[in-house]
Amino acid sequence: MYALPVRLCLTAFLFTAAFAVLPPYIKPCKKNDPDINRCIVRSIEQLRDKLSVGIPELDAPPIEPLNLKQIRLSRGPVGARLDVNLTDMRVSGPSTFKIRDFKADVENVVFTFKVNFDKLTFQGKYQIDATILLLKVTGQGDITGTFTDYESDVVLRARKLDRDSDVYLNFEKMKVKIKIGRAQLHLSNLFGGDNVLAAATHELINNNNDLILNEITPVLETSLAELFTDVANKITKSFTYKELFPEG
Ligand SMILES: *[C@@H]1O[C@H](CO)[C@@H](O)[C@H](O)[C@H]1NC(C)=O
Repeated sequence: MYALPVRLCLTAFLFTAAFAVLPPYIKPCKKNDPDINRCIVRSIEQLRDKLSVGIPELDAPPIEPLNLKQIRLSRGPVGARLDVNLTDMRVSGPSTFKIRDFKADVENVVFTFKVNFDKLTFQGKYQIDATILLLKVTGQGDITGTFTDYESDVVLRARKLDRDSDVYLNFEKMKVKIKIGRAQLHLSNLFGGDNVLAAATHELINNNNDLILNEITPVLETSLAELFTDVANKITKSFTYKELFPEG
């Protein structure tokens, strides 16, 4: 007779109890949701604004902008040398991520997906010392650029950890593979501002930007992977596996 209301009441209680610990911006996805891939993507996407500025109460750093460590490119024999240093590189746009082809294996906690960014632009400082087509190019100044036409594949894998008689997730460093089609680069102050030489060099650099892209891409991959893994772990450190992926 009383069984049903009692059960409802208990369920409601458990429901509130379990969800009371999750802040409103963390949306759990039921483990047996047949549409769990979509659920997880939606949960991540509605976190975008918070991820962008960081979530201090979870100790999660902002994903905007992304700071890259120094990039050094040193190639070629004397006479055809290319020596470029890029420093203070800040990439804007990680928060414009778009997730596609998301596949979750919730039991084994492996997520694979593709990420695109609406735009990725960067700015920083360059130093160059090069001989390009017999032309000696030296200088330093500001560099800005835009990446276009790229694809990236991501694999995110977690281990389940027992802590305080609960199960938590800890992600291994995310694997990110980026293919960048093109980058538009602009270097200020080339040749101390000589416009004709600077324009010629820009054309050269932008038509042969594989060289620079080949150096930037791995640094960008590592930096994005470290940042996103850190953010993911800050979130999963604060909530149990069951809270994030409740049963039924
Ligand atoms: C790049 O940095 C290295 C080490 O900091 C330095 O030895 C080299 O001269 C720099 N290259 C240019 C082009 O300034």
